[in-house]
Amino acid sequence: MKVLAADLLRSAARAADLPRDPLPQIAFVGRSNVGKSSLINALVKRTVARTSAAPGKTRLINLFVITLAPGAPIERFYLVDLPGYGYARGGAPSQEAFEALTQEYFACPPAETGARGEPLGPTAVLQLVDIRHPGLPQDIAAGDWLASLGRPRAVIATKSDKLSRAERSRAAQTWKNSLNTPVLPVSAASGEGMEDLWTLIVRMLTAAPR
Ligand code: GTP
Ligand code: MG
Repeated sequence: MKVLAADLLRSAARAADLPRDPLPQIAFVGRSNVGKSSLINALVKRTVARTSAAPGKTRLINLFVITLAPGAPIERFYLVDLPGYGYARGGAPSQEAFEALTQEYFACPPAETGARGEPLGPTAVLQLVDIRHPGLPQDIAAGDWLASLGRPRAVIATKSDKLSRAERSRAAQTWKNSLNTPVLPVSAASGEGMEDLWTLIVRMLTAAPR
């Protein structure tokens, strides 16, 4: 996919900071350190999101405005990098603050149905899981919660470069069984799955009811 521009709009600390314009949003959700920010950078082929080997790097909701080349099925939308679950510097209280922020975000209606002028939330959600650790209870619980929200959701298995080809397909199958939905293996490091992921994102954003 040809990305003309990718820019940080802002980092939101509360629902009032969310966009109120009608561009659709796709949210990246997953355990801390699973590779959300790296995947966003790999998709847009620029370093826009900050990454770190230490978990808990992304602490606010970072909104990136993406512009694709004219003629793409969707020309402008938001990629949304959320704080990870399962870890917080500062311990349990700040973990709760992250969860509260994430819940506030998912309580906001998507651009397609939201009223004019109110803060808007995700049109679609990508849940990222680490391909090497199928069936982690935190991921299963987050998956159940995301599924209960009723917004289009897909599961992406990150860091596929860390496994051999045979291990990769076995792990993808185990993930599929434990979350009850297909998973797309990707790697921000090797670039595996990037075009399939773009196809999926465009499909999820353009299929939304308007
Ligand atoms: P938080 O912001 O803390 O929630 O983490 P995050 O999910 O945004 O993860 P981030 O993108 O910061 O990556 C975490 C670590 O995993 C970094 O050390 C990355 O270099 C590494 N990483 C991310 N994606 C890949 C990948 O596809 N392959 C490999 N080998 N490493 C990766
Ligand atoms: Mg991050």
